[in-house]
Amino acid sequence: MERTRIFVTRRIPEAGLTKLQKVFDVEVSPFDRNLTPAEIGEMAAGAQGMVSIATDTIDRELVDGLTDIKIIANYAVGFDNIDIEYARQKGIPVTNTPDVLTQATADIAMALILCVARRIVEGDRLVRKGGFKGFYPMFFLGVELENKTLGIYGMGRIGQAVAKKALNFGFKIIYHDKISHDGASLGFSARYVSFEELLRESDFISIHAPLTPETHHRFTKEEFKKMKNGAYCINTARGPLIREEDLVGALKEGWIAGAGLDVYEFEPKVHPDLIALDNVVLLPHIGSAAIEVRERMSVVVADNLIAFFRGESPPNKVN
Ligand code: DGY
Repeated sequence: MERTRIFVTRRIPEAGLTKLQKVFDVEVSPFDRNLTPAEIGEMAAGAQGMVSIATDTIDRELVDGLTDIKIIANYAVGFDNIDIEYARQKGIPVTNTPDVLTQATADIAMALILCVARRIVEGDRLVRKGGFKGFYPMFFLGVELENKTLGIYGMGRIGQAVAKKALNFGFKIIYHDKISHDGASLGFSARYVSFEELLRESDFISIHAPLTPETHHRFTKEEFKKMKNGAYCINTARGPLIREEDLVGALKEGWIAGAGLDVYEFEPKVHPDLIALDNVVLLPHIGSAAIEVRERMSVVVADNLIAFFRGESPPNKVN
C-alpha cells in the first residue's frame, strides 16, 4: 500500500524526522533556506501532509495551491505565518508546537532583561576593544532588578513563565492581556492592569502576545511616549507588534532607556539605526533555539501528523 507523503519545507532535528519516516514517506526540501510560496506549492504537490516553519508565508493563494495537502503542522508555537481561518474553511487543520518551548523562550526574555539592565553585551564589547581600564565607582552603571516593575503584555504560557522567573529576581509583576486572570488562577503574584497603566507603570515591558491584526503595531510612537523615560522594552514574541521605526525614534529621543529584541518587524532585516545604538541588545530570533527544545518541537510536529493520519484529532490543532 502506498504510504502517505509528507513534505517538510526546512531541515528539522532528526528526532522528529525519524518518527515521521517510520510511518510516512518524508521529503525534506533540499534547500536549507526559506522557500518562496511558489516553491512550496510545487514541492508539496503530491504530499498529503506538510511541515512548515514560522517564516513560510502560507496565505490564501498558497492554501488554494496546496491541493493535495490535508494538514499543515507548523514547526513553531506562533502561527501568524499561516492564514489559519482560510485553511479551516478549506478543511485543512493547522497545528503548532506549544509548551515545549515555553521555558526556553522565557529564558531568552530574562536574558534580554538582564543584558539591557546591566549593560552586559555593551560591557563585553568594551572589554574586547580594550576599554576596561580598571574599577571605577562611577563606571558603567546599569540598573538593578530588585523591586522594579515588570509589565507583561500577553499573559499566556510564555508570559507566565517569564513572570515566575522574574519574581525570583525581585520584580513586581503587572500585566495586560485580553483575558484578566485573577491572581489565584495564575498561582503567583501578578496584578492585572489596563494597557495604559502597563505603559505608565512598568520599568520593563516584556511582550508575549501573538501577532494578530489587533496586536500588529501595538507599540508605536504614542505608546513609547507614555512609557517611563527609564523603561526598557523587550520583545521575544513577533517583530511587527512594534513599529520599529518608532522604537528607533523613542530610543534616540530618550523616551525610553533601552530595548532587548529577539524578533524584528521586517525579519531578517534589522533597522540600521538599531544596530548603531549601544542601549539595544539584538538577538537573531533564538527564543526556542536550544537543542532539546528544537528536538521536542520536531517530535510534536510528528505526533500531530501521526494522530491526524490515524484518524484522530491532532493534539495541537489551532483552527
Ligand atoms: C515560534 O515557535 O513561534 C518561534 O518564534 C520560532 O518560530
